[in-house]
Amino acid sequence: MGLVIALNKGRILKECLPLLAACEIEPSEDPHASRKLIFDSRSGGHQLIVTRSADVPTYVEHGVADIGITGKDTIEEYGGAMGFYELLDLGIGKCRMMTAGPQGQPEPKGVLRVATKFVNIARAYYQRQARQVEIIKLSGAMEIAPLLGLADTIVDIVDTGNTLRANGLEARENICNISTRVIVNRASMKTKFSEVQALVASLNDVVES
Ligand code: PRP
Repeated sequence: MGLVIALNKGRILKECLPLLAACEIEPSEDPHASRKLIFDSRSGGHQLIVTRSADVPTYVEHGVADIGITGKDTIEEYGGAMGFYELLDLGIGKCRMMTAGPQGQPEPKGVLRVATKFVNIARAYYQRQARQVEIIKLSGAMEIAPLLGLADTIVDIVDTGNTLRANGLEARENICNISTRVIVNRASMKTKFSEVQALVASLNDVVES
């Protein structure tokens, strides 16, 4: 039985295609050169679904995909899903989820205005800190929110820190470390156990070698 594997566009797709190829799963055509979003594999009867990151856990939870490959940020933001297991850390796409604010400016007292696209992660983090916040949802370019006076702080992904520096911000607290993970639909774990195990084991071998 073939597996349906969902992975997100962009960096994860680029970094994961060689890993999947090393496990003998290769799309029949180059996803970067095609507008198609579903690809058959050259062998093994697998399928690859290329989607937006936030939708990878949705496809896996609903069983449309057996396996998903996406960032820990996406999985955490998706929240307490019961429909899948996180089985493997691929050790790529490493970065940090952090709070950040204007350089040299202490955080204001009172209710903190936090701009982010990771509203669930931010809410849970500040709840753990027992800090009262107003969460302002943005879709991207959070770094400009403090510059424009929309927020005091942002919660965002930091890799090199260049984007923060370029916008006069500094990283403050580390919320969690992020990397690319493999998730598996709960039902597929039973119905396609040997295929899932084989792929997870080969990915693990590739990552460790
Ligand atoms: C992420 C993040 C920051 C940037 C951080 O955005 O939102 O803007 O990378 O990287 P740096 O610390 O190396 O500067 P991404 O480029 O993934 O695009 P996005 O805005 O669509 O999330």
